[in-house]
Amino acid sequence: MCGIVAYVGHREACPLVIKGLKRLEYRGYDSAGVALMNGHGLKIYKKKGKVAALEHELDGKETHATIGMGHTRWATHGEPNDVNAHPHYSFHRKLAIIHNGIIENYAAIKQALLKKGHTFSSDTDTEVLGQFIEDIWEHQAGASNAGTLEDAVRLALQEVVGAYAIVIMNEADPTQLIAARKGSPLVIGVGENEFFLASDATPIVEYTKDVIYLNDYEIAVIKDGTLKVVTLDNTTTTPYVHKIELELEAIEKGGFDHFMLKEIFEQPRSIADSMRGRVQADDATLQLGGLRDYLDKLAKSKRIVIIGCGTSWHAGLVAEYIFEELARIPVEVEYASEFRYRNPIIKEGDIVIAISQSGETADTLAAIELAKSKGATIFGVCNVVGSSIARATDAGAYTHAGPEIGVASTKAFTAQVTVLTLMALAAAKRKGTISDSLFRQLLAELESIPAKVEKVLQAADKIKEIAYIFTYARNFIYLGRGLNFPVALEGALKLKEISYIHAEGYPAAEMKHGPIALIDEDMPVVVIATKDSSYEKIVSNIQEVKARKGRVIAITTEGDTHLPGIVDFTIEIPKVHEVLVPLVSVVPLQLLAYDIAVMRGRNVDQPRNLAKSVTVE
Ligand code: AGP
Ligand code: GLU
Repeated sequence: MCGIVAYVGHREACPLVIKGLKRLEYRGYDSAGVALMNGHGLKIYKKKGKVAALEHELDGKETHATIGMGHTRWATHGEPNDVNAHPHYSFHRKLAIIHNGIIENYAAIKQALLKKGHTFSSDTDTEVLGQFIEDIWEHQAGASNAGTLEDAVRLALQEVVGAYAIVIMNEADPTQLIAARKGSPLVIGVGENEFFLASDATPIVEYTKDVIYLNDYEIAVIKDGTLKVVTLDNTTTTPYVHKIELELEAIEKGGFDHFMLKEIFEQPRSIADSMRGRVQADDATLQLGGLRDYLDKLAKSKRIVIIGCGTSWHAGLVAEYIFEELARIPVEVEYASEFRYRNPIIKEGDIVIAISQSGETADTLAAIELAKSKGATIFGVCNVVGSSIARATDAGAYTHAGPEIGVASTKAFTAQVTVLTLMALAAAKRKGTISDSLFRQLLAELESIPAKVEKVLQAADKIKEIAYIFTYARNFIYLGRGLNFPVALEGALKLKEISYIHAEGYPAAEMKHGPIALIDEDMPVVVIATKDSSYEKIVSNIQEVKARKGRVIAITTEGDTHLPGIVDFTIEIPKVHEVLVPLVSVVPLQLLAYDIAVMRGRNVDQPRNLAKSVTVE
């Protein structure tokens, strides 16, 4: 989720906030806005597009102010446009609010406010939160526990479900900024009679190295030149002031050397975000708002055609196994670039699912238009809200992985697989092709995936040691069976596109039909050999490779004592239900490709010849 910058002190706030938003542009966004206060009330200026468009909007406006805040939005609720951009006024315009994150229960709060006569100008969850806080402030101000705005913020956030980093300005007090966080980052810069707030230290570090990292469930109240930090249960805390050493460029990448590595390590959070507000394992509920009106149609569909390119096509192959296994619906997976030039047969009742991180891939867009012309119902699985593909489909579900900057897709893949799994589970539940116990088990397992991915990430150093040994390999083969076959393809693609080493993914059993002729001591073979229904078979395939002096790197299930005695290297992953294994087994392959590419001195974030979004044929 995107960028926050706020300031109160003795400097001109507007240029400082704009410069800070530009420092946060690397995070990806679709619109930007500022709120300023200079004795003539709260003024908000905001525009769809880049910060430059906002600067153009500000031309000629009275922007003198020593308090202000700005926001770059990565839309989750409501199209990217001027109205949905932040900041948002509260209902009586006493407050302005900016927010990073997702308020999961915003709909219920909005309904209650509508009943009280509130109206809303935007589709965002953020505007609802701002109105909710003002409403509490106005209507409970007389109560013993909510006299101040700070109390109203605290009481409102006690009711909120979801992730947030917010900053609020109060029209009645030009010295006051109130900030709070849960699940989205917020940093406070402490200067001489001035305070800075931002999503990370990037906009702050040129003014002060003294920063406070606000913790979840904490509220920062800046007023009359002082800072107070309280918790949601109104306990005052003494914040620790860090002295930041990181340089600007390193901060943008969160301390990682590359965006790709940062995004690999973000996966516990991005997978959780792709389920946020959709899965409640304890009461076995699953809701996909964007598909609500189409779930019956999906459950009754005679065939699903999945279209995508590259990594998104691999996510589609994983989904094929899951939909057929759980919902018993026949699935075909098509390269969008091939589908669009065939004369495909689309029948009444067919569902087409288009998968795209960017939502702008030309081949996928063209394939959608062709499918539409043949009467198909189209679902989208996109990461960019309001993207062309998202707008071209009848319904869908956003992956909410947050901006993916690295050209090689990593967190978008696992978020796509998560959302597709939720779709298959929802269809299976509606069709009655899944038992209650398996449904509950898979929802509970899904909720455990972020922690399991976290565990795999802890093996990063061991994976780097293995990568070092193979830095100068000239070819790789990746093998997998079942749901791990698409993972083998994805692992090979990762290595190809960032290290420029030729790599091929194969179904493990396919080796004997030709590729095994390639095996010798110079051909590293990566085998995803997790403990599942095809384990014994894949062990045999490994034996075939070893018999021809191939060197094998095996992705194994924790506690496997058999394979370490057979293969050359093992990378363990936690035990996962077979249906969910791709979400975890892909992570070591992402790291292996990353480490080899770095050791080969490649431009990992922008590999040669590649674009993040292929908007041409
Ligand atoms: C994957 O690492 C590549 N960047 C590429 O194959 C990508 O997946 C493909 O271009 C599709 O992009 P999309 O998901 O944005 O449609
Ligand atoms: N959920 C909010 C919106 O869609 C904030 C998104 C963000 O993090 O930028 O406006």
